[in-house]
Amino acid sequence: MIYQDTINKIMDTSRIEEVVGDFVSLKKRGTSLIGNCPFHNEKTPSFHVSVTKGIYKCFGCGKGGDSVHFIMDHEKYSYPEALKYLAQKYNIEVEETEESPQVIEANNARESLYVVSLYAANYFANELWTGEQGRAIGLSYFKERGFREDIIKKFELGYSPDHWDALILSAAAAGHKEEYLEKTGLAIRNEKGKVYDRFRGRVMFPIHNFTGRVIGFGGRTLKTDKNVPKYVNSPESDIYHKSNVLYGLFQAKKAIRDLDNCYLVEGYADVLSVHQANIENVVASSGTSLTIEQIRLIGRFTKNVTILYDGDAAGIKASLRGLDMILEEGLNVKVVNFPDGHDPDSYMHKVGAGVFKTYIENNRKDFILYKADILLKEAGTDPIKRAGIIRDIVESIAKIPDEIKVSVFVRECSHLLQVSEHTLMTELNKMRNAKFKKGNQSNQGQQYQRPSANNQSFSAYPDGPPDNLFDDNAGPDLPEMEVVADDDLLQEHEIIRLLLAFGHELVSWDNIDNMYIGSFIMQNLSDVTFENEICKLIIQNYKEEIENGHLPVANQFITNENRKIADLAITLSTSPHSLSENWYNKHQIYVRDETVNLKATILGGLYHLKKKKVERLLLGLLQEIKAEPDPVNQDILMGKYAFMKNVEREISKFLGSVVIK
Ligand code: UTP
Ligand code: MN
Repeated sequence: MIYQDTINKIMDTSRIEEVVGDFVSLKKRGTSLIGNCPFHNEKTPSFHVSVTKGIYKCFGCGKGGDSVHFIMDHEKYSYPEALKYLAQKYNIEVEETEESPQVIEANNARESLYVVSLYAANYFANELWTGEQGRAIGLSYFKERGFREDIIKKFELGYSPDHWDALILSAAAAGHKEEYLEKTGLAIRNEKGKVYDRFRGRVMFPIHNFTGRVIGFGGRTLKTDKNVPKYVNSPESDIYHKSNVLYGLFQAKKAIRDLDNCYLVEGYADVLSVHQANIENVVASSGTSLTIEQIRLIGRFTKNVTILYDGDAAGIKASLRGLDMILEEGLNVKVVNFPDGHDPDSYMHKVGAGVFKTYIENNRKDFILYKADILLKEAGTDPIKRAGIIRDIVESIAKIPDEIKVSVFVRECSHLLQVSEHTLMTELNKMRNAKFKKGNQSNQGQQYQRPSANNQSFSAYPDGPPDNLFDDNAGPDLPEMEVVADDDLLQEHEIIRLLLAFGHELVSWDNIDNMYIGSFIMQNLSDVTFENEICKLIIQNYKEEIENGHLPVANQFITNENRKIADLAITLSTSPHSLSENWYNKHQIYVRDETVNLKATILGGLYHLKKKKVERLLLGLLQEIKAEPDPVNQDILMGKYAFMKNVEREISKFLGSVVIK
């Protein structure tokens, strides 16, 4: 258990923009920061971070929370794991009741896989630097290939001795269970039940997830025997999913974001060599062909990818198609090709770091033009082949979501292919139409669709969410996405929103003098019962605090340990609300900044709720009257009804006058 003091310290120190910023590239817009949501796939950013509130909120998928929630959601960590992650990030010592490694392993199987992987990485590194075999064989191999010590250390490279059970024995002595060695694939059990090390006599490349935890390994043989596979890799496990991992991302992510570009190479050795040339924004897909998940992973850090290719022409042609996928994700793709069949690794060691760096800076070509170039060379003068190329290139261009870029490419390709822009555009539109038809079919059954021009009422944000969504003063200038429910929920939410947003404002209106809005609202709610369970809890809580002489702050609810309260508080302090919107619209008043007319906003909120409650009462009375057989009782009910009807009328009148003022 982590002590509350430590938790408080972590919460106080964590800065949402830094915590989220490690995973999402954020740009300033208005007073908030925005980026592409890491929780769902999107090309236009709807993920907002409020620095002042310490929270994030995605208006696309609805996820939101504070720093701890973000890490829990993003890394699939438990609450204590997320706290520890933040503690580590901010160098805060975690004070907790002690637990031995064995207890931790027993408590959490997934965690155990991380623990044993980290153990193995340390073991392999130790063998490389201090083991007899490791130094003589492993370390000297890396040195012969020209890798510097700092690079070997930075990537935590290691050596696995050439025995059947070196790791197994060492891990057992350190108290790790064999079960986890097997589950991570570090050990293999054969049909006879014998367990042995997967990696034997190999130099080891630990693979990290992008928060830096070891999740798997690649092990390279030092033998030249063709029958031995060059690399043996960890199998898929609960913590290692090849398709969403990029080798080197942990070491590269900061540079990728800073330089707004990511170099993509094929192998482990390439990553090391490019780093050694002082180019740190490089990752490898590690043998597998690039997956859509890997592309999206890159897309979270930058929109610019530069692919460093092996010089081999067959390989390039085979991969051209895969690259369309990157275009489709809205990334800009450039390509660098190395001469004489070199790969980045061999070329770096041949020419040296300085020349290498200059070479890639001077030789990057835009992918589409590069592709056109290659295909044209191949086709020679054959007119049929050339026609095929045009279609091929246009197909790539059609994948680009950005219209401006499309028109630039159309122009450039028209020169290169010697066909008119018009021809290219016609071809492009044909392709798009075909794609559109296909897309429409597969879209059926979706709940929300991006609105078309004549269907604007469906979306809260036809052009994406507004800049000022997080402004503390942002006004009710947008309708809510929610379908309007036929109960009091909206009105109850509005009250909570007003408490959170304005509770601490001091006001003097008419016969009240210097009163906090929070207290004012609570006073006026004495005759109202909340229906919604969460709203009820918040109101109760608020009331109790006030009775104890303390005016609650929004943050108390936003970081509430009851996740439902926290979720609602976050949603209500970030989303544009619906009620006053309708109300302003009805009266044809457009007030962007609701603080301009704070009195109308607050009274409006209160009386809309009351009106709703009265309407409910009237409905109930009406049913009672209908069901009542006794005329005398019926009369009494009618009297009540008339009275309430009058109250309703008064409220409506009042609402009208407050708004008009
Ligand atoms: P390469 O053969 O280019 O390997 O394969 P490399 O990293 O450049 O290694 P060196 O230079 O020969 O030492 C590219 C990547 O493909 C995967 C590895 O991830 C490798 O880094 N691969 C290759 C395997 O997984 N298994 C293999 O047998 C070969
Ligand atoms: Mn290589």
